[in-house]
Amino acid sequence: MLPTAEAIAQRRAVRAFLPDEIAQPTLERVFAQAQAAPSNCNAQPWIVHVASGTTLRTLRERLLVAGADLQQYRPDFPFDGKFPGIYRERQHDAAARLYTAMGIARDDRVARAQAGLRNYAMFDAPHAAFVFLPEPFGAREAVDCGMYAQNLMLLLTAEGLASCPQAALTFHPHIVRELLGVPAEQRLLLGISFGHEDRQAPANACRTPRAALADAVRFHR
Ligand SMILES: Cc1cc2nc3c(=O)[nH]c(=O)nc-3n(C[C@H](O)[C@H](O)[C@H](O)COP(=O)(O)O)c2cc1C
Repeated sequence: MLPTAEAIAQRRAVRAFLPDEIAQPTLERVFAQAQAAPSNCNAQPWIVHVASGTTLRTLRERLLVAGADLQQYRPDFPFDGKFPGIYRERQHDAAARLYTAMGIARDDRVARAQAGLRNYAMFDAPHAAFVFLPEPFGAREAVDCGMYAQNLMLLLTAEGLASCPQAALTFHPHIVRELLGVPAEQRLLLGISFGHEDRQAPANACRTPRAALADAVRFHR
């Protein structure tokens, strides 16, 4: 088991997984530990569904079809993918690093679109967690879910496992709700594919930098 700082340093968004499933006792331990996340008034607003096996295969097939059809794009939390200013620069830098690692040329729109569709295949992960936020909760409780999600990803890293948080898995919530039997009043906030990293995959050679401490944090006395 890795110390916390080590797990934080090692966690990365992994975009190619091996097919091997994680043993159920390990899954249950990790998800039980993730429950320790803090939340506003200890409300614990996250409702989590973990898809594996046949359920995940069906979901993957449905999302791959929907993902190729713009008409079916209906996220519960609108997302246009547009970032302003410095955030746009970082977005472009991260994308350039990923496509370079994958050997995809900047102007190869077809290859980029195909790489994007890999999101809906959950990058071949054997498991995917879907984090729902029940109505009427909003931004404040979404923060709680973010803390939960980071707990989960760090715990997976500490176990030698890998994950990818994916907004893309929230673009067709009606399909996810239908297949997992989730009521309409629970809104889909985040998907996380996870499993064993495929260490040979070019996409997983991608590394992203972070802004300097002074650009993100001001200390006041
Ligand atoms: C809320 C959230 C949504 C994300 N959505 C996607 C996604 O849809 N597809 C994807 O490939 N990566 C996605 N990512 C991964 C980010 O691109 C990645 O975390 C970022 O580039 C930093 O790289 P790192 O996680 O490897 O440190 C998402 C990350 C977060 C936190």
